[in-house]
Amino acid sequence: MRYDSVTEVIGDTPLLRIDPAVHGLGHIDLYAKLELLNPFGSVKDRAAWNMVRSGLPDAVERGSQVVELSSGNTAKALALIASMHGLGFKSVTNRMRVPEIKELLLLLGAEIEELPGRTECLDPTDPEDPLTRFHQALSEPGGEYLHTDQYYNELNAAAHESGTGPEIVRDLDGRAPDVFIACVGTAGSSTGVARVLRRHRPGVEVVGLVAHKSDFVPGIRNIDEVQEVGLFAPGLYDTIDTVTSAEAIDGMLGLIRRSGVLSGPTGGAAYFGALRHLRRLDAELDARGGERRTAVFIVCDRVESYLGYLRKRRPELFGATASAGALDALTDAEVEAAAVVDVAEARRWIATGAPLVVDLRSPFAYAALHIEGSVNIVDELFEELVRDALPFSKSRPVLLACPVGEKSARYAALLTRLGHPDARSLAGGIVAWRDAGAELVRE
Ligand SMILES: Cc1ncc(COP(=O)(O)O)c(C=O)c1O
Repeated sequence: MRYDSVTEVIGDTPLLRIDPAVHGLGHIDLYAKLELLNPFGSVKDRAAWNMVRSGLPDAVERGSQVVELSSGNTAKALALIASMHGLGFKSVTNRMRVPEIKELLLLLGAEIEELPGRTECLDPTDPEDPLTRFHQALSEPGGEYLHTDQYYNELNAAAHESGTGPEIVRDLDGRAPDVFIACVGTAGSSTGVARVLRRHRPGVEVVGLVAHKSDFVPGIRNIDEVQEVGLFAPGLYDTIDTVTSAEAIDGMLGLIRRSGVLSGPTGGAAYFGALRHLRRLDAELDARGGERRTAVFIVCDRVESYLGYLRKRRPELFGATASAGALDALTDAEVEAAAVVDVAEARRWIATGAPLVVDLRSPFAYAALHIEGSVNIVDELFEELVRDALPFSKSRPVLLACPVGEKSARYAALLTRLGHPDARSLAGGIVAWRDAGAELVRE
């Protein structure tokens, strides 16, 4: 195999049959599409190259910067393609939550601009989501950027319609599988592949997987966020299932340790979601006398960039003991039992009881507007701080505030678990505080 450019190496990835002795399905052949073997490391190599290639000659002539709203694999592929062509790349995102990917992007020469999301940033003179406004500015004609626009760009799905989908059909001897399972981020890969499979087998069952509400599986959206994606067409999927980060990690460990596939968390989510879905089908097939079916899922990327994410959620995998202060160790009952105060009560409490008010939003959002006298400890840092012990005196009550009151309830439960006698969460968060007309100050 000889190539003249690394971009020629994109695509044509293997379709690996998972050993039935490993997956345990009696009547289903299960295949993994190994997108992690793309040259820049993920399924997004295809989309990135397809979206950017036609604009490159003009961008090179004008010296434009390539820009994308991505904090992960698309950014990685675009950063490499841009620098190969002598262009800069800028990644514009909400807070980057996987530190290794941020570091890798910087290593690749990317510029990173982190903006707060709408619920975080409450500047009344700036009512729109900064990210949305940035998106609009980028798309203005004649701009100085080559904006690939992955959440809306049809070329994203088209990359999979011309590549990933046909490759699957080819490797299954010209037939589409009966079931196709994929995680949904921009929806490009699931949309493009599903279109092709439907042409070959109109009855193919398409299962889209998203992260469980308020959970985080890097690379895919949660059930609320996915509605905002321009390419997402709910009618395309027969089923949308959710996976938790714990399930994604279990699936990932299964793929790594039993099948030798160095998958990242979303490949694990797809494997876990596939097995959960297919076990029901397998039981039906068994009852019907053993017809066979074929299913395919996508392994999007590799594990190495997620070691910090994994260490935080499963410290025992790294020889460390799980600490009582790990957010994931909280039970639903503990979170439900967390003390919550509404805005009116919180205002009275601040006026009389002088709790320490901890604002868990990003420094950018905090600087824009915050409750007077509050301190800013961004949520990830807060989680680190409380991992082993209480960072505050038990004698001082604590009021926790986040954008909408969900995270702060979890942290209030965590402080309670660690023995704090009076930790409460602001119901509805800073958004509710603002909506109630309560005072916010600017730094
Ligand atoms: C790791 C990972 N898995 C899955 C996906 C989902 O792919 P798509 O954007 O095609 O829906 C992405 C997208 O960024 C990703 O980075």
